[in-house]
Amino acid sequence: MKTLKHALLATLAVLATPAAAQQPAVTVAIDTARPGPVIDRNVFGQFAEHLGTGIYGGVWVGKDSPIPNVRGIRSDVVTALKALKVPNVRWPGGCFADEYHWRDGIGPVEKRRVQVNSNWGGVPESNAFGTHEFMDFAEQIGADAYVSVNIGSGTAAEAAQWIEYITAEKDTSLAKERAANGHPAPWKVPILGLGNENWGCGGAMSADHYVEEMKRFSNFTRNFNPAQREKDKMKRIAVGWDGDKLDYTEQVMKAWSTHVYSWDIEGVSLHNYTTGGWPPHLPATGFGNDEYAIVIGETLKMDSLLARQSAIMDKYDPEKKLLIAVDEWGAWLSPTPGSNPGFLQQQNSMRDGILAALNLNIFARHADRVKIANIAQMINVLQAMILTDGGKMVLTPTYHVFRMYVPFQDAQVAPVRFDAGELAVGERKLPRVDAIAAKDKSGQVWVSLVNVDPDAGTSVTIPGFRSASGDVLTAPRVDSVNTFDAPSLVAPRAISGKASASGVTIALPPRSVTVVKVSK
Ligand code: AHR
Repeated sequence: MKTLKHALLATLAVLATPAAAQQPAVTVAIDTARPGPVIDRNVFGQFAEHLGTGIYGGVWVGKDSPIPNVRGIRSDVVTALKALKVPNVRWPGGCFADEYHWRDGIGPVEKRRVQVNSNWGGVPESNAFGTHEFMDFAEQIGADAYVSVNIGSGTAAEAAQWIEYITAEKDTSLAKERAANGHPAPWKVPILGLGNENWGCGGAMSADHYVEEMKRFSNFTRNFNPAQREKDKMKRIAVGWDGDKLDYTEQVMKAWSTHVYSWDIEGVSLHNYTTGGWPPHLPATGFGNDEYAIVIGETLKMDSLLARQSAIMDKYDPEKKLLIAVDEWGAWLSPTPGSNPGFLQQQNSMRDGILAALNLNIFARHADRVKIANIAQMINVLQAMILTDGGKMVLTPTYHVFRMYVPFQDAQVAPVRFDAGELAVGERKLPRVDAIAAKDKSGQVWVSLVNVDPDAGTSVTIPGFRSASGDVLTAPRVDSVNTFDAPSLVAPRAISGKASASGVTIALPPRSVTVVKVSK
């Protein structure tokens, strides 16, 4: 009797839950016969600055910590990051990079200079996490090092010696010093940042001034690792555009187009945060559809920013020899109430997951130029993958999207055609659905489908395919988050498609990101 009553109550509860509204079905045609450029795995890169608890607490807990660690680097975070196959980590900043002096972060920890982190909260920076610790972290998670040198307050000689210290093989004083500090073998530096935001926190330089500095740093900062001499050569990234700082990209490209033999670059950066207005004031939680639409609408501008930066670069480099590195991107919202505002700590909702997927799709559509990108930032800062509190750790919706997108790393774009129309959210119009497809090295085709609609489900039919299986990420609300107490509210679940005469059909829940492999 009791069981019958429970079953009845459960049925009534289901009937009382309003079914999600349905939007019309969408057809997504994939053109596998016309392969596009490769989606460079480096666009799934991360950014870890000495900022708030991004490094201290988030990555580094110290060798004597009760939190399980390997040589001071927390093991739970390493395990979680390994699943993302993180291709590269940009370090030590950010604005911090232009106040960083590498010698402060090597040698016995107790002798390292304690400085003030003047950009981020004015807190003491112990330099306990320096070059050796960063390289160890990168190796533990299997990522390449993207090292940004200090053009703002450092010298070209300092930068040159730092990269020599990291990469020189043997028999030089700096290689011997590195060996004496515990690492005889040279490390690789596959990506080198020539400064950071030198129009702002990196020294407020005019574009002309920056170009002259950048040329000297490019000239003298040499990579001596024999394994990077012929292949895997270090890519040097000059500072480019942010917001209206178009002159940087223009002047850098102009200088490069007539450069002499002694200096060169392989890419130009672009920074773009989604803020909903400056200074950042939109809450990271407790918002509704209007604020969802403001953020999603703004983030889609990444597409036109990339088109504009590409157009400038095309003028000087029509063969697309240089790449764009979107080496800071993501949502910058108001800080978690009660946290140090200088620590840029914010929660991460289903909206962030959708924002991440839309930006990754834009990078795929610009794969001919965009070959490096670094979401800001990796742990505990801005749009983070992971949040920690002491020994606790939680994976964010953005983490899950990055995990779901792993098959797109180094996959070749397969052009898609679809017309899902627009969606009105309050006064704003958003695309209803977004999609990309790509073929991985084994020939498997992968599709990402984003249902931007906060309230209504839809379905996508892919003609010419018979099966689809993968993961879907959705949540009860657009502002749903994972917390230390409820870590799996926003977590992927398995999804598969249904075959019919018209192809394979996948049902997309409202506010969702779906990644499936499709087969004929
Ligand atoms: O990611 C936070 C800060 O944003 C970086 O330090 C800086 O480069 C940018 O302005």
